[in-house]
Amino acid sequence: MAHTEPLNPLNPLSPLSPSSRFGGRVRDCFNRHAAAYEQGAGLQKAIAARLGQLCRSLRPQIPAGPRADLGAGSGLLSRALETSLGGPPLLRLDLCTELLAQERSGDPGLVHHQLLWDLNSGLPRQLNGAGLLASSFALQWLEQPPQRLQEWCRQLQSGGWLVLAVPTAGSFGIWRTASAQAKVPFSGLELPEAEQLETIARQELDLQRLQRLRFSWPNQGALPFLRQIREIGALASRQRHLRPGELRRLVAHWPAADQPLRWEVLLLVGRRR
Ligand SMILES: C[S@@+](CC[C@H](N)C(=O)[O-])C[C@H]1O[C@@H](n2cnc3c(N)ncnc32)[C@H](O)[C@@H]1O
Repeated sequence: MAHTEPLNPLNPLSPLSPSSRFGGRVRDCFNRHAAAYEQGAGLQKAIAARLGQLCRSLRPQIPAGPRADLGAGSGLLSRALETSLGGPPLLRLDLCTELLAQERSGDPGLVHHQLLWDLNSGLPRQLNGAGLLASSFALQWLEQPPQRLQEWCRQLQSGGWLVLAVPTAGSFGIWRTASAQAKVPFSGLELPEAEQLETIARQELDLQRLQRLRFSWPNQGALPFLRQIREIGALASRQRHLRPGELRRLVAHWPAADQPLRWEVLLLVGRRR
């Protein structure tokens, strides 16, 4: 039978088609805005730098074995970890060709350390018995984040490390409240509950760090906020887009600048037992 899937240029054996329609939308949004990603991704940059610093002391403790950045995008976290840990490069897995290409444009040799991969289909066999799995701001885009997290923990070898940052459901309270008051659907991405992820991490890992970080973001109004997320390609949602009238109502109910936007980010560093 003829093979009709487009072939993956980085990994000729695997098809490019994501496993779900939502996955396709996420990929298309990030692809479209890849060139502007790093410029707009201030929080992601800060978190990658913080994880890099936190992991400096792990350097002698990471066992030999595969190392990967799951949902690596343009490689912010990979580079931060490579700087602080030394050792072999991390394999960068992502669904979005254009974000991977952003990093490769500065270093064509990276093609050997990148894999176009849909994380909703589990992890590739080459990561079995991993020594280090890292991920920042990617788990929330996947189907069933708690199950994915459990899978990731179980793919580590005993003594292997998981390093994770993920925005969680305590984020963007004012967006939700404004949507409810405007009687329009909340059109953002549903973020995972921190508590559920923490429970899994405690079951699977000896945790060296588990922290919920809270960041305040200046609130310049609904439209600048939505524009900011769109600019980095992060506006895909399982909900439909708001109609123009609904958007106007959301803008009218958006709170004043004295109520900042808040991100809640779960940060987790742990070792497989
Ligand atoms: C907000 S970006 C974060 C990128 C990078 N980790 C960082 O901190 O800058 C989310 C990334 O997750 C990737 N992603 C989303 N769904 C995915 C999936 N199903 N499989 C692989 N990667 C996925 C996106 O393509 C994007 O690169």
